Amino acid sequence: MAKYRIAYLPGDGVGPEVLQAARMVLDAVGFAAEYVEGDVGWEFWRKEGNPLPERTIQILKNTDACLFGAITSKPKDEAEKELSPELRGKGYTYFSPIVAIRQLFDLYANVRPCRAFPGNPLNFREDIDLVVFRENTEGLYSGVEFHPVPDEVREALSAHSPKMQRFSDVPADELAISCRIFTRRGCERIVRAAFEYAKKHGYPTVTVVEKPNVIRETSGMMVRIAREVARDYPGIDLWETNVDAMCMWLVKNPQDYGVLVSSNMFGDIISDLAAQLVGGLGFASAGNIGEDYAVFEPTHGSAPKYAGKYRVNPTAAILAAKMMLDWLGETEKAKRIQEAVAQVLAEGKVRTYDMGGDASTLQMAEAIAEKAGR
Ligand code: IPM
Ligand code: MG
Repeated sequence: MAKYRIAYLPGDGVGPEVLQAARMVLDAVGFAAEYVEGDVGWEFWRKEGNPLPERTIQILKNTDACLFGAITSKPKDEAEKELSPELRGKGYTYFSPIVAIRQLFDLYANVRPCRAFPGNPLNFREDIDLVVFRENTEGLYSGVEFHPVPDEVREALSAHSPKMQRFSDVPADELAISCRIFTRRGCERIVRAAFEYAKKHGYPTVTVVEKPNVIRETSGMMVRIAREVARDYPGIDLWETNVDAMCMWLVKNPQDYGVLVSSNMFGDIISDLAAQLVGGLGFASAGNIGEDYAVFEPTHGSAPKYAGKYRVNPTAAILAAKMMLDWLGETEKAKRIQEAVAQVLAEGKVRTYDMGGDASTLQMAEAIAEKAGR
């Protein structure tokens, strides 16, 4: 009997091929799992008007963890056009399934390690070891948005903030509002997760990345709470950096930083920057982690133009599988994957196109699987 039940959500574009690659490596280390495949993505939006069908949510509820591939999303008008004819004009609205899963399952910590593997020709520097902790359930992704803005909303805002005055002449349909919602609980648990990680893995600093000098209430709350939480971790320094400056410092001195913690949108942005410093999205994995469930994914998108070509770098998906093993407590198997990836990259014999090589997705996976399986 398999020890684990894993939800397997390949999604769109290159999602299925990179997950196939990850599976090869998981099989090679002897991970005993039953994989339960679920429907998610563009195809189900078109056919059913729902990119995350209820039956898929049930699969997630009945598994130990999930491996997620990639998803195609398109702007509002295009999404409506691609809907099957009988569903059009019926009020279906597209939403991002991964964002929905994060919120539905309260997977509050998006953990994104960006460590340079020695010998990767795409490294910006060889000595980079960053881990981004991105708040994953609130902030600008809360989904509380208005367009056109109802009069009641505008009136309520005007009554409580003189700053609304400047917009009083703007017609309702020429005004759009997206709320950036922070909670004490949301801030505290992501900051604590970052400090716990720093403590466990020996990072000397945690940098909180916000913009409290301008976005005083939300960013201000995050930084205040970070200072409170930091008191529980005397050996770890809390650094405070504004998000714009952080982008500059990450290009200037990325080797000086360790664990970074930020809110949903800023975390999204700095994690792409951090990923590029260590080779790009082909190397960037993410764990969406909650109290009792977690979803692991490569950070890259569905890359439709490469779909079915087996050209993309599967390392991100393989490292996502490795993170899943760590989370499940299968640390010895996780370590073997990490070391196998490091060896293949250091040898440089098998390289996908992004690294200037001509290996296919599965050849790269095979090379890693072969070393991990020993
Ligand atoms: C990511 C992606 C997603 C996000 C998209 C695909 C909705 O950019 O995981 O970083 O914005 O969170
Ligand atoms: Mg992103």
